[in-house]
Amino acid sequence: MWHNISIRSQLVILFALLLTFVEAGTLALAYWFDIKERRSLAIEQTRTLGRTLNHDLLKALLNQQASVYSDISFRLSGFDSVAALALLDGKDKVVYQYQQQQNMQSILDITHIETIPQFTGGFLLLRQPLKSDNYVFGSVIFKIDLAAYNTQLKEHLFVLLLIFPLELFVGLAIAWRISRAYTQPFTVLADAMKASDVQNNEYQYVSTRAKNEIADLYEGYNLLIRQIEKTTDGLRQAICHREQSDVANQAKSAFLANMSHELRTPLNAIIGYSEIIRENSLETHQSELVRDSENINVAGRHLLSLINSVLDLSKIEAGKMDVHLEPVSVKSVLYELVSTINPLVDKKHNRLTVEVKNGVDIITTDLTKLRQILINLVSNANKFTSNGEIKIEVWCAEYRDAGCCYFKIRDTGIGMSPETLKKLFTPFTQAEKYTTRDFGGTGLGLTISKRFCQLLGGDITVESELGKGSAFTVRLPAAQSDISNKDVEKRKAG
Ligand SMILES: Nc1ncnc2c1ncn2[C@@H]1O[C@H](COP(=O)(O)OP(=O)(O)OP(=O)(O)O)[C@@H](O)[C@H]1O
Ligand SMILES: [Mg+2]
Repeated sequence: MWHNISIRSQLVILFALLLTFVEAGTLALAYWFDIKERRSLAIEQTRTLGRTLNHDLLKALLNQQASVYSDISFRLSGFDSVAALALLDGKDKVVYQYQQQQNMQSILDITHIETIPQFTGGFLLLRQPLKSDNYVFGSVIFKIDLAAYNTQLKEHLFVLLLIFPLELFVGLAIAWRISRAYTQPFTVLADAMKASDVQNNEYQYVSTRAKNEIADLYEGYNLLIRQIEKTTDGLRQAICHREQSDVANQAKSAFLANMSHELRTPLNAIIGYSEIIRENSLETHQSELVRDSENINVAGRHLLSLINSVLDLSKIEAGKMDVHLEPVSVKSVLYELVSTINPLVDKKHNRLTVEVKNGVDIITTDLTKLRQILINLVSNANKFTSNGEIKIEVWCAEYRDAGCCYFKIRDTGIGMSPETLKKLFTPFTQAEKYTTRDFGGTGLGLTISKRFCQLLGGDITVESELGKGSAFTVRLPAAQSDISNKDVEKRKAG
């Protein structure tokens, strides 16, 4: 509730409460002082009256004659405030008493009062000794009606109560004015924020002549929006550049795809002719020509695989790589893989083992791409391992409610450093400079394999330690039936 009220109203309410509190306090204090002052005035005036009547009262006390008493009564009747009076002799015996109104309570019952003034029931009771030449003959007790004084007191109180709302009103008007001065800088800031056009990166700056916290706040705000403007401009430029480079990238990929196609046709012819020449040379026993034609064939096939890789990558980047999903027997793929790779494994004196866990059977995926992924990884494992172990483990598991198949290819080869792992899967990147020289290859295998995996809804992860070996894990969804063409299109777009 309180937080729904504007700061300005909150300030005014708080100010009003404070003002009321202070006013009420002042009023109570003023009232208290007024009462005190009026009481001491009544005492003072009574004492003066006592001193004035001292001679007559002494006379009455000593003579105790009716004529003297009637004189005194007559004189006292001129003082409205004297409600009653009692004359007491030296033994505190009442010798005379005066009462302004007959129905008033007798003064006798209060003759016991001492010289300390007492205020009771709207009266002042004051006892004063009657002296002559420092000898005390008796005493007089005055009963003074305070009505006259109280009337003045009420008048004062009335004036105070009249002034109070006036003061409150003036105070509130000042509070309203002051709160405006304090809340206005925030209103200006809020207006500037509202007027800012975020869409077009146009912001309203604020300025002030103040040199206090408001100036700091405004400066901070201006600095912030200057930074936002700068950052947004930078981002827009980056997006623009990215869009331009995306267009250029697509053009490059399309060009590469066309070029690769154009290169493959004559290259296939070269490979074909080199095989014909080899066979003819074998028949005519021209051993030199057989060797040359074999060299042409090996070089041609290497070039063809390189062109195929470049073509695959450019197709992926151009979003033109098609996916053909079909039921695939994991065991048959593994059998094929082992027969293809075994001669190479033997050449490097490695030992290849395959472990297929229970539950692995048919999965729905792209057969050609799965083959290519596994060949890439197993050939890598073999390429970077000599006299070691290569192990392929396959298992299927539930992964986030969807069944997934895992292929883990482990080797005990040269392994990789953490820095190398960071740049893995980057096209045309080989871990170490000596790799091409010592092991050959283009640095495209892993990139293509990872992109294929992602295209099929999975991924490749790697763990490796330099000098100890590496382990690549391929994760692929086992069933693709629930994957729509839209998903594949999205994955193609990267
Ligand atoms: N099993 C592994 N052991 C150690 N290093 C590896 C292994 N697999 C990959 N690498 C490192 O990662 C780099 C990239 O591998 P990738 O398969 O992409 O390229 P390549 O094998 O060099 O060439 P390509 O596969 O294109 O013929 C390799 O050059 C190598 O440095
Ligand atoms: Mg490779």
